[in-house]
Amino acid sequence: MMGMHGAIVDATHWRIVSNEPAGADEKIWLEDPRDERRWLFKPVLAKDGRRQGEDWAEKISSEVARLIGVPAAPVRLAIRWEHGTRVEGALSGSVVPTGWEMHHGSVLLSELVADFDPMDRGRRGHNLETITQALAGCSPPPDLSESLGLTAFDVFCGYLILDAWIANQDRHSDNWSVLIDPQGQRYLMASYDHASCLGFNLDDRTRKRVLHELEGHPGVRHWVKQGRARRFEDGRTCSLVDFAAHACRRAASDGCRYWLARLAAVTDAEEKRVVDSVDGLSHLTRTFCMAVLQANRRRLLDACDPSREQPTER
Ligand SMILES: Nc1ncnc2c1ncn2[C@@H]1O[C@H](COP(=O)(O)OP(=O)(O)O)[C@@H](O)[C@H]1O
Ligand SMILES: [Mg+2]
Repeated sequence: MMGMHGAIVDATHWRIVSNEPAGADEKIWLEDPRDERRWLFKPVLAKDGRRQGEDWAEKISSEVARLIGVPAAPVRLAIRWEHGTRVEGALSGSVVPTGWEMHHGSVLLSELVADFDPMDRGRRGHNLETITQALAGCSPPPDLSESLGLTAFDVFCGYLILDAWIANQDRHSDNWSVLIDPQGQRYLMASYDHASCLGFNLDDRTRKRVLHELEGHPGVRHWVKQGRARRFEDGRTCSLVDFAAHACRRAASDGCRYWLARLAAVTDAEEKRVVDSVDGLSHLTRTFCMAVLQANRRRLLDACDPSREQPTER
């Protein structure tokens, strides 16, 4: 199966480098024999006997990030034969250079917030204020051109814009990180773990219902509004779009304009090309993904419009 972004990789015979202890489910780091790059294999999960869509969600979101230049881990769809069973999943390419360290956001916040608990239900301490402090001494990701003049926090705002665009509610403090080079210089790490986006866990019946709401019902527009910044302190009552807009207003420089200008230049056709490039999705899944991306892109451009003084709930 060949899509625009290449075939599904058979990673059965790749060398296993290590287990990944972070995250909810068991994962392994593998080494691509062609260039020895390391990739995290993330198997698709099944809930109630139904295959979810973590793999295509991870793949599409990585390509969507690329449309506006947000640094994100590269993703390849993959399979592995394990004990005679075909396991489907996504590979997330390591964005940690050899010899560098990475620290989760939670590690930085533990230094700033007394008794910080990354699993706290209210996400106490995981807010834009403490994240600004945590990133104050960091450079933007090394793979981003310096000539853009962005701060690490500006780039973090890019992650929040991406999250709102793809409806990713899972940006908790272990789902962003900083890199430390051998000289001790810190950098925001490229974005990763976008598996919980674009309604990856819905079934087609639900997608159909949301897409074809009876006249008078809100449909996709209603669905996207349910997306909340719930991994942030007080984020449960704030939409992902409003959270991204707040963050952009906070950013000291006008670096966020860069993301918004890139976003404004994205077309429906480009989003469609990304979604269509991934093989094996049902027609409803594609239609749903495109409807979500389009709706959120417009909501974001509206909410982040700098001429809008008083943000309204959206
Ligand atoms: N592309 C990547 N480069 C480097 N480290 C990564 C990458 N993707 C994930 N990780 C690390 O692996 C951990 C688990 O991966 P993640 O994608 O967050 O899976 P989960 O869905 O289980 O949370 C992350 O918290 C991070 O420490
Ligand atoms: Mg994670």
